[in-house]
Amino acid sequence: MKKLKLGMVGLGHMARHHLVHIRRNPRIELVAVCDRDPAVAATFDAPEAARFPDTESLLAAGLAEAVLVSTHHSDHWRTGRLILEGGLHLLMEKPLALNKGECEDLLAAHRDPHQVFAIMLNQRTDPRFRWAKALVDGGDLGDLMRVQWTITDWFRTDAYFRQTPWFATWAGGGGLLMTQALHQLDLLIWLCGTPVRVRGHAHFGKWHDDIAVDDEVTAYMEFPGKATGVFITSTGETPGTNRLEICGDNGRIVIEGDRAEFERNAVPASVLRRSATERTLAPQASLVTAPDTGKGGQHAEILDNFVAAVLDGAPLIAPATQGMLSVELANTILLSAIRGETIELPLQSSRYQDAVADLMKTEA
Ligand SMILES: NC(=O)c1ccc[n+]([C@@H]2O[C@H](COP(=O)([O-])OP(=O)(O)OC[C@H]3O[C@@H](n4cnc5c(N)ncnc54)[C@H](O)[C@@H]3O)[C@@H](O)[C@H]2O)c1
Repeated sequence: MKKLKLGMVGLGHMARHHLVHIRRNPRIELVAVCDRDPAVAATFDAPEAARFPDTESLLAAGLAEAVLVSTHHSDHWRTGRLILEGGLHLLMEKPLALNKGECEDLLAAHRDPHQVFAIMLNQRTDPRFRWAKALVDGGDLGDLMRVQWTITDWFRTDAYFRQTPWFATWAGGGGLLMTQALHQLDLLIWLCGTPVRVRGHAHFGKWHDDIAVDDEVTAYMEFPGKATGVFITSTGETPGTNRLEICGDNGRIVIEGDRAEFERNAVPASVLRRSATERTLAPQASLVTAPDTGKGGQHAEILDNFVAAVLDGAPLIAPATQGMLSVELANTILLSAIRGETIELPLQSSRYQDAVADLMKTEA
């Protein structure tokens, strides 16, 4: 059996989770691992793999054909570039990089179409979102009218930020939008497309002591056509909510908890609005439920898909090109909040970087 010779850079919390899935995939041979922190590297239980103090020496050894990167957000660009320029396949943890400018640079460094470059957007494997995407892409929902995602069940304790302090800084990782809710921003774009206009409101260190970054955000979005959206997220509140509503001309998709439903209008809203003679009425709708309300393969499925893409040419679930979109939206929401103005997309990446550079000075 042909096996993929895999290296890992960054051996912290997430890498330990990935290691379990790597061991379960018989088509992966873990050949090389690397963490810049010797104490972290020493407790990483992979005796089969050669150990390296940095990415440069891992690449120079020539053992790996592909690398899984699970380092700090602020390192994704630098390490990603080294791997892409070294000609290896790359599976990058989310986010693709710290800001849109870095993402653009990484994508520009990915010149070889045979080089697989994917991103760990594991929530795309959730069958409820796949089902919703099929309804939207297949035209069942009709023209998009409104989307609303309240995703406030990203509750985190202050101890979480103390244990992984770079999550609490602009220089290290960015906040809630870049770290937790990035998954939902990706899914929102995957399902509804990229907004053209955004007004964001964000609070920095509102609920958590000693963090500089966003921990509560509300964004209003406008999409091409008439559709609008609202995205609300927080790491401070509990019990939180995770409710996605996508309203189209033909009905409404709701995904909340284990529930994933499509209420299909008997008559499209646009037709009913114009044709009905009553002043008000109770429109008829039928209920369709998602056949599978499990969570899907998550990280293991993205990893397996990456291996299949390299070895068999399988299409990627989450190609790196799409990884830039959620970073761009997160950057845009924050820029809007910082500057207090509505921002049009595509985002001019330097505007966000300039705004965050000012914030970084205050945490230095
Ligand atoms: N997909 C998901 O569901 C999910 C969940 C949690 C974390 N993550 C992502 O995983 C990544 C890592 O998060 P974590 O919680 O494991 O962080 P962590 O701090 O526990 O681990 C990061 C490790 O990277 C190492 N590192 C940093 N720069 C390095 C470099 N240049 N060379 C070698 N090693 C380097 C650090 O020493 C550290 O051990 C982040 O991108 C995070 O967003 C993804």
